Amino acid sequence: MQLVHQPLLLRELLRDKTNVALVATMGNLHEGHLHLVENARKTSKTVVASIFVNPLQFAASDDFDGYPRTLERDCELLAQAGCDIAFAPAIKDMYPTPQTYLVEPDPALGSILEGKSRPGFFRGVCTVVLKLFNLVQPHQAFFGKKDYQQWRVIEKMVEQLSLPIQIHGVDTVREPSGLARSSRNAFLSQQHHQDAAYLYQLISEVAASARKACHEWAELESAARARLAQHPDFHLDYLTIRRQHDLGPPLETERLVVLVAAKLGSIRLLDNVEI
Ligand code: PAJ
Repeated sequence: MQLVHQPLLLRELLRDKTNVALVATMGNLHEGHLHLVENARKTSKTVVASIFVNPLQFAASDDFDGYPRTLERDCELLAQAGCDIAFAPAIKDMYPTPQTYLVEPDPALGSILEGKSRPGFFRGVCTVVLKLFNLVQPHQAFFGKKDYQQWRVIEKMVEQLSLPIQIHGVDTVREPSGLARSSRNAFLSQQHHQDAAYLYQLISEVAASARKACHEWAELESAARARLAQHPDFHLDYLTIRRQHDLGPPLETERLVVLVAAKLGSIRLLDNVEI
């Protein structure tokens, strides 16, 4: 595997490549990220993984400087997973001048749920992902369903901007307890690490009940919210049943997903289960 920092060198390496896949990451890799690489490996001749902690998607209150940077280990893991090129640009190469042209997603999708709790987040994500798409020019790109809304926002961006890229959503990789793998899990105390699995259990039960008792979405949501409220360490942001494709309100005829975001102590956990 080659580690490339310079966008120009990357373009050089990828010239004439006919089947390129991109897995975009912010590094500090775990099995969830590697699962994306493995999926990309199956369908593409050349697999590129980007590692870039994108300042544009961090709010002032987020800890951009404290985001774990583990490039050496990330490269070892990527090589083992079958990645061909790790692209780790410097900030000055991604943003040679202040980024004043920005990709603003449709508020109907980009300003709800995560977008409501983290204003400007999807603008930062879409802008950097579009830049990565332009630098790598992949034919396919792989995103985790762990970040369900992010996957849908990018899928919609690709459609709206007529980008010739096939977007794949990859199933969430979980710890044996059911907790979705995330770089943030490392910051959970031992007790909270155990407690965190409850979130997945809860939304799995909501999904199971919704399969049996359709229509009663509002009741299922409020019952689940009440159960979570009994746990003093959880602070719920949202727990909601939505349509899978556009995250709009549920309809009987459409495929649905249960989405949850909650803080456990100071760590924000995000998860979902498709119904
Ligand atoms: P990051 O949080 O590093 O995640 C990179 C990719 O890994 C995303 O597509 C995410 O959904 C996926 N992923 C994370 N945990 C996963 C898990 N447990 N199972 C499956 N996939 C998982 O998401 C970002 O970075 C950034 O916003 C980025 C898209 C790179 C733009 O900066």
